[in-house]
Amino acid sequence: MFDVNEIRKDFPMLKNKMQNHDLIYFDNAATSLKPTCVIKAINDYYLKYCANAHRGDYDIAHKVDEEYENGRNIVAKFINANPNEIVFTSGTTMGLNIVAYGLMDKINEGDEILITEAEHASNVLPWFKIAKEKNAIIKYIPLTKEGKLTPDSLKNTLSNKTKVVAIAHVSNVLGYVVDAKTLAKLTHQYGAYFVLDAAQSAPHLKLDVKDIDADFVCFSGHKMLGPTGIGVLYGKYKLLKEMDPLMSGGGMNTRFDMCGDVGLQIPPLKFEAGTQNIEGVIGLSSAIKYLEKIGMNNIEEYEKELKKYAVEKLKKLDNVIIYNENSESGIITFNIKDVFAQDAGSYFNSKGIAVRTGLHCAKILVNFLHTEATVRASLYFYNTKEEIDAFVEACKSGGDFLDAFFA
Ligand code: ALA
Repeated sequence: MFDVNEIRKDFPMLKNKMQNHDLIYFDNAATSLKPTCVIKAINDYYLKYCANAHRGDYDIAHKVDEEYENGRNIVAKFINANPNEIVFTSGTTMGLNIVAYGLMDKINEGDEILITEAEHASNVLPWFKIAKEKNAIIKYIPLTKEGKLTPDSLKNTLSNKTKVVAIAHVSNVLGYVVDAKTLAKLTHQYGAYFVLDAAQSAPHLKLDVKDIDADFVCFSGHKMLGPTGIGVLYGKYKLLKEMDPLMSGGGMNTRFDMCGDVGLQIPPLKFEAGTQNIEGVIGLSSAIKYLEKIGMNNIEEYEKELKKYAVEKLKKLDNVIIYNENSESGIITFNIKDVFAQDAGSYFNSKGIAVRTGLHCAKILVNFLHTEATVRASLYFYNTKEEIDAFVEACKSGGDFLDAFFA
């Protein structure tokens, strides 16, 4: 296991104050903080070898090509894929849009696309669009009382009409980790495509796309120590070859003429139109190297322990309602009794604690939870038990929340 106090020195943001308190950053499911090595890698690109990728024939352009393609190798190794199956995107949202658009030709009227009520907007809205376009049907795989997606539930929802199953590996509100391997196997028994939204899993656990046998996997760099605006789409090479790209432009074609004939690059370049987010790839590569040094299994174990510690303490408070005490990842979704979530968020802010409040982009889930909004504390491996102690102390103010806030 790692020494969290040593690790914290790598994150300059943790030296900051908020409202005159040491910053306690518990909004990691929204975005993560960045270590110095990532910031430095991005700076180095701008200071020492700034040029475009795949377009220049001079030394620094070659260096950019090398760093960019090496980034692809680093991502591929990180998730056990082949480099030609890694498409750089702007984030999970773009990845899922590319997949939904690319599968459009394979979806026919009456076909079913299965999602759950726990998906965030990126894994709902692109499917709504495709369903409307093709007269396909969106079906919701029922969740258990706790809000979990189980293989049995998927088994009971699959049918010969199922064309796509698109689900979150880890739900961004409840934090349950699905058994992706079993779900993929069940999906394939019906000849459907298995799309995994790994936005909340890739940063926190060892992701092995080959072992899961997912057809497509999407995640974002910024939730895993990398910069914003960079993400990854993994797709099985055969499927990437068959799909139409969402974006057209420079870099993704081999030729075009006045009659409109266009030759496309092979994947992954086919999906990377226009100048790419080069600094993003370089920053993400540095982030992955950092994560690998710590070890994804260590990160997962540490966060589990941290969550258990927090939940045990929070359960002792009778003014806290926890919605997901048994979920495996470091996400705690709760409310302070009789306090509106946004008010609670403002109060936590006054204590230097950053949490997210509201619907967390998973707008269908609130109906399931029978609440208007929730507070979400989401942990990462640089958080500590001391920070949780301070957070629990803040929760204790309970009924006095608003009094304290407006005092
Ligand atoms: N979907 C991200 C979150 O859960 C932004 O906060």
